[in-house]
Amino acid sequence: MLVDGFGRVHRSLRISVTDRCNIRCFYCMPNENVNFLPKSEILTFEEISRIVDIALQLGIEKIRLTGGEPLVRQGLPDLVRMLSCRTGLKDLALTTNGFLLPGLSQELYDAGLRRLNVSLDTLREETFQRIARRNGLSLTLQGIATARQVGFQNIRINAVAIKDVNEEDVIPLAHFCREHDLHLRFIEFMPLDAENQWEQELVLSGASLRQRLEQEFGSLRPVADTDPSQPARDYWYADKRQKVGFIDSVTEPFCGACDRLRLTAEGALKNCLFGHDDWSIRQLLRNGSSDVEIAELFRQCVASKKPGHGIDEPSFLRPKRAMYQIGG
Ligand code: 5AD
Ligand code: SF4
Repeated sequence: MLVDGFGRVHRSLRISVTDRCNIRCFYCMPNENVNFLPKSEILTFEEISRIVDIALQLGIEKIRLTGGEPLVRQGLPDLVRMLSCRTGLKDLALTTNGFLLPGLSQELYDAGLRRLNVSLDTLREETFQRIARRNGLSLTLQGIATARQVGFQNIRINAVAIKDVNEEDVIPLAHFCREHDLHLRFIEFMPLDAENQWEQELVLSGASLRQRLEQEFGSLRPVADTDPSQPARDYWYADKRQKVGFIDSVTEPFCGACDRLRLTAEGALKNCLFGHDDWSIRQLLRNGSSDVEIAELFRQCVASKKPGHGIDEPSFLRPKRAMYQIGG
């Protein structure tokens, strides 16, 4: 078992399969001159598969594939197929911007994927371009529609809510998700953008969003029996038509119940999005180390985990890596 110094048992591993992306959201990536990893430094599917086997033995039971944009990685459905048949893996999910879902949904579904999170921050093309610095909102919308058609259920929508950027989209997004039976989650803007634009003032708190939603839809009721380790707090709308959730990482950190580890595309293990340290699994994989030695690295990484990210402390230092280099 992977237990840290504060008694938190780690059951979840988020695996970034690439640092590349087909758009350039300002909260995640630089607009130009991105330093992408050379291919030789990125883990192969076989390497990821071996790490997963070791992680499963250590008590990991949930895996999420992320990026960059995971679907720009060639042959991603092959990796899904390799992982989805693992016994011991209770949950396999993917976070995507949806651009490539029109072409890949069926293959992903056939490969055994059942859980999808799609990022969608606005329903207006102009705002989409302001955030993503590329156009193509219609591709994301088409991607969501295709995923539903091929059989994905309970698709989740991630929306990063940012003051003066997509504030006006909060209510329309909520209506859209209710109408299309999508589970919307608002994520607070975190200091992980590549161009240092983050400021506390730009964060739209989950509490303020809940207030706006209650004005529009009536009172929200907390969903009972949710997994305490999940970052989102989910609520039912008054009419129980759908749920809506809030990931209040900045204003109400949930580090106390965190059960997550992250593997970057180049094979570095991290114990926190905001951690400054890396444990290179790739080095061990490529120097002939044994599974026992790799398991030991997992234990070291977990043992060094701090109690929280400390964004609100004066001593907080942003991590050197931006979101696309860690994995969402
Ligand atoms: N703050 C909050 N959420 C972010 N994401 C990317 N960068 C940030 C940030 N700085 C979200 C994306 C996506 C998920 C992978 O992480 O919107 O839904
Ligand atoms: Fe790409 Fe997702 Fe980062 Fe946007 S948030 S640039 S979609 S990886």
